[in-house]
Amino acid sequence: MRSSAWHPRQLGPRTGRTFVVTGANSGIGLEVTRDLVRRGAHVVMAVRDTARGAAVASQLDGPGTTTVLRLDLADLDQIPELTRALLTGHDEVAALVANAGIMGGPLRRSPQGHELQMATNHLGHAALIAGLWPLLEASRSRLVLVTSGEARDGHLSPATTRKELLDPDPYDGRQAYRNSKQANLLFAQELHRRSCATGSAVSAVAAHPGAAATGLLARQLQRAGRPRLAGLSRGVTCVILPSARAGARSTLRTLDPDTPSGALVGPARFGQLHGPPQLLDVYDSASDPATAARLWQLTQDALGTPLPF
Ligand SMILES: NC(=O)c1ccc[n+]([C@@H]2O[C@H](COP(=O)([O-])OP(=O)(O)OC[C@H]3O[C@@H](n4cnc5c(N)ncnc54)[C@H](OP(=O)(O)O)[C@@H]3O)[C@@H](O)[C@H]2O)c1
Repeated sequence: MRSSAWHPRQLGPRTGRTFVVTGANSGIGLEVTRDLVRRGAHVVMAVRDTARGAAVASQLDGPGTTTVLRLDLADLDQIPELTRALLTGHDEVAALVANAGIMGGPLRRSPQGHELQMATNHLGHAALIAGLWPLLEASRSRLVLVTSGEARDGHLSPATTRKELLDPDPYDGRQAYRNSKQANLLFAQELHRRSCATGSAVSAVAAHPGAAATGLLARQLQRAGRPRLAGLSRGVTCVILPSARAGARSTLRTLDPDTPSGALVGPARFGQLHGPPQLLDVYDSASDPATAARLWQLTQDALGTPLPF
């Protein structure tokens, strides 16, 4: 599936609507937040470091508004604090943008013992969606899962075991990232399928930013104990890659009500690294409902709480 050109002006004003953006204090999440605030929206910036989030929020130009709330996606025990705050403080959430993520680096584990990329990029967002479900359902919300072209090479399958998903051994940092991004896309597809099957008004889409100059790679290098290379990568990516603002366009298109539920939005040029956001074919790695169902079941088991539907 390829679509016609789309321009951010097609999204129009978002006055009075509330959006929750995870990882809103840097990179693509910050650019999505900046854009939505300019459109008059209220953005709940769900971030690990609330002082940094508040500092960033104070520099955004209105007319919209922000609230900064604490969220550490890697720790399943901390997610209920955010869901409680949102459930009590908001009547409506137009969209939840599951944007926050980490990439690569040496093996690290979440407080629950899960491999950290899968814990942060997938499990934490799944827990957030499950906890917020009454509000999301009542709001007829849009769920946006931020994936990556790396999802094409994910290894999740209908036979994936709990250990392979959450505690891969041997550990390959790049493959763990690919699997977590495949999980984001599979989860969006499964949410879409289940929503359609049950007549829910919740919609689910996935965004692939392409390649964008953010701190994602530098943070990986920092974690791998290579601070000089991290510094170098910050300088180089700014010169050779499209900006974080350009990377945010895929997510902005997913927020356009004209983007259908189940869509994957991303750039189509240069191996999907660059270009205006298009409706893309869902990758083969995320097209098999049996793989998505397996991920759903393993996710539910890991969270120890039922997912929606
Ligand atoms: N940039 C690209 O080329 C590219 C390509 C494909 C996909 N993506 C995807 O785009 C998304 C955004 O990444 P980015 O490129 O904008 O990178 P980024 O600038 O590093 O932003 C990542 C964000 O995630 C947050 N985060 C990390 N761990 C978290 C946790 N445990 N709890 C809550 N927040 C956490 C970070 O917060 P802290 O500041 O607290 O660390 C940061 O705000 C990711 O899902 C990534 O996989 C990016």
